Amino acid sequence: MAENVERDIEVHWREEDYYEPPESFVKQANLNDPHIYEKMSLDNFPDCFTGYADLLDWFKPWDTVLDTSNPPFWRWFVGGRLNASYNCVDRHLPQHANKVAYYFVAEREEDPIVAVSYQELYARVNEFAALLRDYAGVKKGDRVTIHMPMVVELPVAMLACARLGAIHSVVFGGFSGQACADRIVDSESSVLVTIDGYYRNGKWLNHKEKADIAVKQAESQGQKVNHVLIFQRDPGHYGGSDLVEGRDVLVQELESKYRGARVEPESMPAEDPLFLMYTSGSTGKPKGIQHGTGGYLSYAAATTKYVLDVKPEDVYWCMADIGWITGHSYIVYGPLALGATSVLYEGGPTYPDAGRAWRIAERLNVNIFHTSPTAIRSLRQHGDDVPGRYNYHFKLMATVGEPIEPDVWRWYYNVVGKREAAVVDTWWQTETGGHLCSTVPALKAMKPGSAGPGLPGIHPVILDEEGNEVTPGSGEGGSICIRNPWPGIMQTIWKDPERFVRTYYGKYNKNPQSKDWRDWPYMAGDGAMQSQDGYIRILGRIDDVINVAGHRMGTKELESAVLQVPEVAEAAVVAAHDDIKGSIPEIYVSLHPGVEADDALNQKIVDAIVHDIGPIARPRKVWIVPDLPKTRSGKIMRRILASISDNREIGDVTTLSNPEVVETIHKLVRP
Ligand code: PRX
Repeated sequence: MAENVERDIEVHWREEDYYEPPESFVKQANLNDPHIYEKMSLDNFPDCFTGYADLLDWFKPWDTVLDTSNPPFWRWFVGGRLNASYNCVDRHLPQHANKVAYYFVAEREEDPIVAVSYQELYARVNEFAALLRDYAGVKKGDRVTIHMPMVVELPVAMLACARLGAIHSVVFGGFSGQACADRIVDSESSVLVTIDGYYRNGKWLNHKEKADIAVKQAESQGQKVNHVLIFQRDPGHYGGSDLVEGRDVLVQELESKYRGARVEPESMPAEDPLFLMYTSGSTGKPKGIQHGTGGYLSYAAATTKYVLDVKPEDVYWCMADIGWITGHSYIVYGPLALGATSVLYEGGPTYPDAGRAWRIAERLNVNIFHTSPTAIRSLRQHGDDVPGRYNYHFKLMATVGEPIEPDVWRWYYNVVGKREAAVVDTWWQTETGGHLCSTVPALKAMKPGSAGPGLPGIHPVILDEEGNEVTPGSGEGGSICIRNPWPGIMQTIWKDPERFVRTYYGKYNKNPQSKDWRDWPYMAGDGAMQSQDGYIRILGRIDDVINVAGHRMGTKELESAVLQVPEVAEAAVVAAHDDIKGSIPEIYVSLHPGVEADDALNQKIVDAIVHDIGPIARPRKVWIVPDLPKTRSGKIMRRILASISDNREIGDVTTLSNPEVVETIHKLVRP
């Protein structure tokens, strides 16, 4: 088993107490049918998921709930036709045209909050769809890369693509121009949608300059970008880098041409792709996770309704970024499919002070709050008394993205939630489209530090190295897998179906010829433990992926950035413990003979990472060492380096080919 999992198991988390959801919550919950787990048992699979698809409007109903004829390429709601933009916007108009879809809250607190109604969203999505189609030539099936921060124009651009049947690929705004280029190239996008700049932690960030880098780099790799469509953060003012004639255009300048335009939503087969979302894996190359339309949207809508308990009268705020899967499913597609009212906040969680989030919650009467353990830890740092100063009341709070320590969970429940809210710790992934393990908030007690059991219809199992089931309650960890397909499951890796099969199904499928879905458990790549009550505690990744502040990155991606620095001979990235971010990269490098280490070289290495990936991957420390510890077969022992970074017991080093270097590194890091 992977090093980080072993380490976590060693810590032996104490079994925690249960917390019952407040009675007031239970009474009003969207899902309080105690028989739901039986109804969604494997005996009723896959028909049990039709209720999820029934949450949507279909242009044509499906004929087959699940086609498993070509494992593991599962096809949901086959024969059905629908459009995601129609489901998220148009269908709400007859009853709720004037309902707020998004409250946009700018980072600058003095800026007025902008309420965007479903009617206004409809107008904007149509106009931008017309512009994409008629100006940029976007057609059904084309890929459009969108590199934007948290502004309303981001969901507008996504929904405009969906309206045309084009496949969007949103790149997290904080990623660098180079990272954006890699995604443009892989997805073969000839249109890039971006913005001139935005505000973050009080500073104006020129974002358009990343587009210049992205296009140049993409073109050097053979992918021509014909159109760069640039929104403006502040209408009437352009704050980005110079426009390139013939390629760049300000959306605002074309607006008058498309004002009032309407675009028929394309009737899409349920299984046509809706979007790509690139995520990190075990190699240096991010993989384009492909999600379909009908299955994904059904699952996002259902989990928003039943796990996050979003109702028409609620005001829901998910503080994640739309550039990650959490934002796709739980800021855009899930809430909009349900016709919900959400908050879309531009800025950092503690800007300009730790009361900001609670002022927003008070002002807008937010009653469902969704964030990550990193944000909770950083808010906790500012003291227990801050949330109490504000008059807001949450009925439900969600956490996602990383394991939440029981202590942090309790702070969230007691201090942020004022003991009034049900808490859901939702475990899932980019690949899974929506939540997999969590308590159903009205039906299961909460247990700090445990995500909870599989959701209704989701049947997790923990397997050991040989594929044997690890007995729940045994205290043993293993690799968490899901026995059955579900509608939100990814369709494939874009242009790499073999990697898809190998990565998620290769290890535990014993019979590649089998047509029976039971032979194809989905391997998530996380270590986990299950207790007697069926609750699952996620221990962390078992592959070369690290989780920094809830952001997933591949150690190989960071290492290949570092290896571009000519002075560097070898590099190893480890995830070191961090009190706020959960973990943070530290880099160990050895240099080519004759090269001297100095501060400038150190900086060069950091710059290489920020250039290739973005500031989110910035390492806490670069250690320049004489050699890296290796096994006799030449494998770099990252586990030993991680132990040194975290000041833990190093363990046995006698099997290394160069055990003496461990002592040298130890002295350097911990003099
Ligand atoms: O390791 C798990 C961790 O985040 C990984 C997925 O990252 P990503 O695809 O970026 O999606 C993040 C948002 C869903 C998982 O493999 N993870 C996610 N949620 C939790 C978690 N770890 C522990 N507890 C969670 N609730």
